[in-house]
Amino acid sequence: MPTAPTVPWPTDGLSFGGDYSPEQWPREVWHEDVRLMREAGVNLVTVGVFSWALLERSPGVFTFDWLDEVLDLLHENGIAVDLATPTAAPPNWLLTAHPEILPVDATERRERPGGRLGWCAASETFREHALRIVGALAERYGEHPAVRLWHVSNELGGGNARCYCEVSAADFRDWLADRYGDVDAANSAWGTAFWGHTYTSFDEVSPPRGVGGAPNPGLALDFERYSSDALLRHLDAETAVIEQHSAVPVTTNFMVGAGSQVVDYAEWARHVAIPANDHYTLVDDPRREQDLALAGDRMRGMTRDRGSWLLMEHSTGGPSWQQRNRAKDPSELVRNALAHVAHGSDGALFFQWRASTAGAEQFHSAMLPHAGTRTRVWREVLALGRALRALGPVQGSRVEAARVAIVVDEASGWALQSGLKPHRGLRYATEVRAWHRAFHDRQVTTDVVPLDADLDAYDVVVLPTLLIVDDAAAARLAAVVERGATLVVTYLSGVADETARIRSGGYPGAFRQVLGAWSEEFTPLQVGETRTLDDGGVVIDWAESVVVDDAETVLRHTDGPLAGTPAVTRRPVGGGAWYVSVRLPDQSIRRIVDRIVEERGIARTVTAPPGLEAVRRVRDDGSAFLFLLNHTDGDVGLSAAGTDLLDGSVHGPETVVPAGRVRVLREERAS
Ligand code: GLA
Repeated sequence: MPTAPTVPWPTDGLSFGGDYSPEQWPREVWHEDVRLMREAGVNLVTVGVFSWALLERSPGVFTFDWLDEVLDLLHENGIAVDLATPTAAPPNWLLTAHPEILPVDATERRERPGGRLGWCAASETFREHALRIVGALAERYGEHPAVRLWHVSNELGGGNARCYCEVSAADFRDWLADRYGDVDAANSAWGTAFWGHTYTSFDEVSPPRGVGGAPNPGLALDFERYSSDALLRHLDAETAVIEQHSAVPVTTNFMVGAGSQVVDYAEWARHVAIPANDHYTLVDDPRREQDLALAGDRMRGMTRDRGSWLLMEHSTGGPSWQQRNRAKDPSELVRNALAHVAHGSDGALFFQWRASTAGAEQFHSAMLPHAGTRTRVWREVLALGRALRALGPVQGSRVEAARVAIVVDEASGWALQSGLKPHRGLRYATEVRAWHRAFHDRQVTTDVVPLDADLDAYDVVVLPTLLIVDDAAAARLAAVVERGATLVVTYLSGVADETARIRSGGYPGAFRQVLGAWSEEFTPLQVGETRTLDDGGVVIDWAESVVVDDAETVLRHTDGPLAGTPAVTRRPVGGGAWYVSVRLPDQSIRRIVDRIVEERGIARTVTAPPGLEAVRRVRDDGSAFLFLLNHTDGDVGLSAAGTDLLDGSVHGPETVVPAGRVRVLREERAS
């Protein structure tokens, strides 16, 4: 497999640390911080995320001495720095002088100072100020030996993902003019003859605001794309300034997880040297470990050559932005961190190092809690530090090549969840997650990949509700069966093209032919309504009246208006082209996945009950590291052999993973 130029990893071995905000503390505390960081084995901290107001007290007047001191102190102590540009939090002097940079929401309400990411991505005024502080920082620290990674802003889009102000509107019009050339091309793409919305000039186009929840679907989708591009342009602009002064790799922290679809991260990942993610489990998610695994598989799927990415933030305990901020159970901290590593992160960082005593997030957990070091959290932080050191040889290895790909694309999520739809309760991320879960529970590794990924290496390709797909992508996806792979297409896929226009001739438009089946009508179910299938399973939320042309019926409706008609079909071509026209609960999805996994002879990483997660990372020299994570509260025994890097114990041919614990077996394998 061709490899891209290797990006130097910021630390020797796996990275361990978190956001560090010395500006919140007096100098004496900095020395204690560094001593405790060393005790814990911290080797990378993110500095400066929210420090603009302290670094530039008035326009162009910089105060770097405290940051000089912090960077030198960290460097003297062998702790590398991920230096953040502070643009997530514009200073009050800037917001006071230029309130017009604050973002405006779809109801045309302008944000007020006091939060963060209080800026519109189209604002040239903001950009000018932002690039000045970024340039000053990069110039001063571009070659500082402590700085091993640059961190652009923070969670771009978390608070300013969409801005509907007039500056954004004008920028959106320029973006449209670039995309379509002339306004008639946009009229035709969006079908503006409907409701008499024909535009005679791009000047008449506005972002979808004030339209009573019924925007033109093509225009709304373009506004989502534009908004992602506008923020990406800012990321690129900061990166370019940094690169004028520094050869150190640049990253920015994504928010992949729990259904977040703020921007087109697959595209963004191509603009950073090392993709990074922030992941927080949700307290009311009974399968939070699977959301974490999905986020990891997605990060890997968008990383160059499926290589290493970095977990930039997660939490040691409760965050403070959920309703009831649950503390982590004993050993959950270590297990969560190592799960990210299992899925390809070459480190585990937290928000944040020391718990803040003031400010909005004063109740957020941290590596060093308010109560100090005589705490379970601190002891677990020390344990994690030891574990990550012991796992040093894992750095630079890759997750073993997956044979299953789940294709995701933000455009489908954006389109499914906006405007008028046959069923407005459907969530793109829910369907993606359900299919991922079935493979995950069976210990089959999946790559969750973007729409334009190379699919040649996969034996099974799953398209969950891929509503929006252009002709070229549809043809590429359909072609996987020709080379013998299995294609699984679920309801509402291929229904619309890239302009959000419905494909005529029957659903699921773009995939009708490859599936040998199509449907004439959607028949969404009502709240609480279920239908029965001939294997005893049920249908929830969604059904369609399917007509089979050239496929076998795998499952049939047995009741309701669709009784006797196909619900799940399979065209016997290549490895099989499946159409799942209904929304299924987990156990039914699992039955389909089990059948496909068996038919295709896809080996499970291990054979164990759900809740025992298993992922293998491998190196080119043949070394292999088998991560076994027991998310259940009972011990799990299984066949696996090797030396546990975490405690030196030797296992095989059987091993037991104690409840809640992790083993990482270094396996003996022929190279
Ligand atoms: C995000 C931010 C951090 C912090 C945490 C709290 O990930 O990047 O600054 O606010 O959330 O969970």
